[in-house]
Amino acid sequence: MGRITFLMNGAAGKMGRAMATGLMQEDDLQIVGAVDIKCAGQDIGSLCGMDAVGVKIEENLTMVLEKTKPQVMVDFTNPQAVMKNIRTAMEHKVAVVVGTTGLGEAELQEIDNLTKIWQTPAFVAPNFALGAVLMMQFAEIAARYMPHVEVIEKHHDQKIDAPSGTAISTLERIAQGRKVFTQGAPNEFEKINGSRGGDFQGMRVHSVRLPGFVASQDVIFGDTGQTLTISHNSISRDSFVPGVLLAVRKVLGLQGLTYGLEKIM
Ligand SMILES: NC(=O)c1ccc[n+]([C@@H]2O[C@H](COP(=O)([O-])OP(=O)(O)OC[C@H]3O[C@@H](n4cnc5c(N)ncnc54)[C@H](O)[C@@H]3O)[C@@H](O)[C@H]2O)c1
Repeated sequence: MGRITFLMNGAAGKMGRAMATGLMQEDDLQIVGAVDIKCAGQDIGSLCGMDAVGVKIEENLTMVLEKTKPQVMVDFTNPQAVMKNIRTAMEHKVAVVVGTTGLGEAELQEIDNLTKIWQTPAFVAPNFALGAVLMMQFAEIAARYMPHVEVIEKHHDQKIDAPSGTAISTLERIAQGRKVFTQGAPNEFEKINGSRGGDFQGMRVHSVRLPGFVASQDVIFGDTGQTLTISHNSISRDSFVPGVLLAVRKVLGLQGLTYGLEKIM
């Protein structure tokens, strides 16, 4: 079987570089294109601290798709750019593996429709770290017994969307088995706006943004006389490589939109 050819979108970003570095080391994958609105003209290998691979970063996704005809586009760009990228890739019948966060229900519905129109698969995961997927599964189980729960997610200070895609996914999964009710004192009030965090069906979510973090999340459950904390830390971006590799290898065999790493683990 030939190698799977892929294009890295957002190639000059923190995740783009880390994922390109991981994927370029695999014998069964071949990078054929790299797109970013930064660092145009630079070789993606050199940018990742490796030998030059002869693939330069370019700005125009359509042109790179038509020139290099990849089988898969991997997207780690930003919430403002990602839908346009997905539409463009789909129109060229290029399967997508999307790690960019900030996609809501309407966007996921549109991606699902696009996969049907263009007969091309899409894979989207808010978190490609295996441990984070397990954290969500464990949280879903714990909430059945301990429904008072708050989420604290911590990311680097350049992240632009809040709360994180992982926090939203965690809350959505917990909500499937939890009766909606408002936590905390009925007469509680905030002395500083936002101190109680965001409200998702009565559960609170808090977003910390500080240099030094990659991606961490604590899911804290409270009950009479006890608390339970499920904690996950991505201490380096390498933690996302195995999940992205798995998705790139599997996406061509999928149909429609597949959402979440747990579906292909
Ligand atoms: N799913 C996961 O496991 C996971 C893990 C970490 C980060 N993320 C998400 O990945 C995304 C990227 O994160 P990051 O930390 O690498 O951010 P970053 O800002 O370092 O990188 C984003 C890159 O996208 C580029 N870009 C912006 N608009 C573009 C466009 N129209 N076309 C091409 N490139 C464009 C930027 O120039 C930048 O280089 C974010 O949405 C983040 O939340 C997901």
